[in-house]
Amino acid sequence: MRPERLTSAAWTRPPEPPRPGRPRVWLARVEDLRDVVAPLAGTLLDGGERARAAALRRASDRDGYRVAHVCLRLLLGAYLQVEPPDVTFVRLPCPVCGGPHGRPDVPGVPLCFSLSRTDGLFLLAFADTAVGADIERLPDPDTVAALTETLHPREADELAVCPADLRPAAFARAWTRKEAYLKGLGTGLARDPRLDHLGTCARGPRRIPGWTVDDVTVGEAEEAEEDAAAAVAVAEQRP
Ligand SMILES: CC(C)(COP(=O)(O)OP(=O)(O)OC[C@H]1O[C@@H](n2cnc3c(N)ncnc32)[C@H](O)[C@@H]1OP(=O)(O)O)[C@@H](O)C(=O)NCCC(=O)NCCS
Ligand SMILES: [Zn+2]
Repeated sequence: MRPERLTSAAWTRPPEPPRPGRPRVWLARVEDLRDVVAPLAGTLLDGGERARAAALRRASDRDGYRVAHVCLRLLLGAYLQVEPPDVTFVRLPCPVCGGPHGRPDVPGVPLCFSLSRTDGLFLLAFADTAVGADIERLPDPDTVAALTETLHPREADELAVCPADLRPAAFARAWTRKEAYLKGLGTGLARDPRLDHLGTCARGPRRIPGWTVDDVTVGEAEEAEEDAAAAVAVAEQRP
């Protein structure tokens, strides 16, 4: 799927709600929004968000975190018609251990969301059922080799026969699909990523029982973004 490009116009009026089975997906470049959005971090983010941003080691990560979380609040505020600082986040119970670190959620509203960040880019997805999003820069060949055994055995076999120059993109396709699905479930990587076959091939969308997983096109026309892959997973029914 092709994401919408996030600009400050997105939160100036209530965005069109996602239709059943059709998440709304925004792709953003930190650099494009920093000047408008970063100054709002001090007033819009809560204490936890500010502390998490401050704890990040690299200045670019701190920036990226603040810009993404301010945009998430601005969009949720526009969707839900509440002031962005009044959006209350909870963590759903982790499906693996029951602990308070499952999928982030705004309680009592019929809107699910997911956020993913990578160097200089972020992805926001909104749906009327559980949703997970992931965006990652393409890994280098050594990282692909080191992480291949964390994939489903069939995905690892697919990579083994993939031409070496196409392998980073093929790995990133499988990995972002998998993380999107695991974030939709709310387990994150606490569910073994070897269990589910999401596949490395470019053909889509992928179906896993109860879920649709789509690749998200990351700026074909824009060279700076060609080295990233992204995916969104949306649940077919409300839990
Ligand atoms: C959640 C996880 C998949 C994030 O992956 P990542 O590629 O590093 O980061 P992304 O930018 O894509 O996603 C981060 C966002 O995912 C969301 N998130 C965190 N935990 C989540 C979960 N369990 N389910 C869904 N979304 C989650 C948050 O919004 C977070 O944003 P923030 O860090 O800016 O607040 C990964 O950190 C993970 O699996 N953590 C679980 C670790 C674990 O096994 N814990 C033990 C549980 S029993
Ligand atoms: Zn857990």
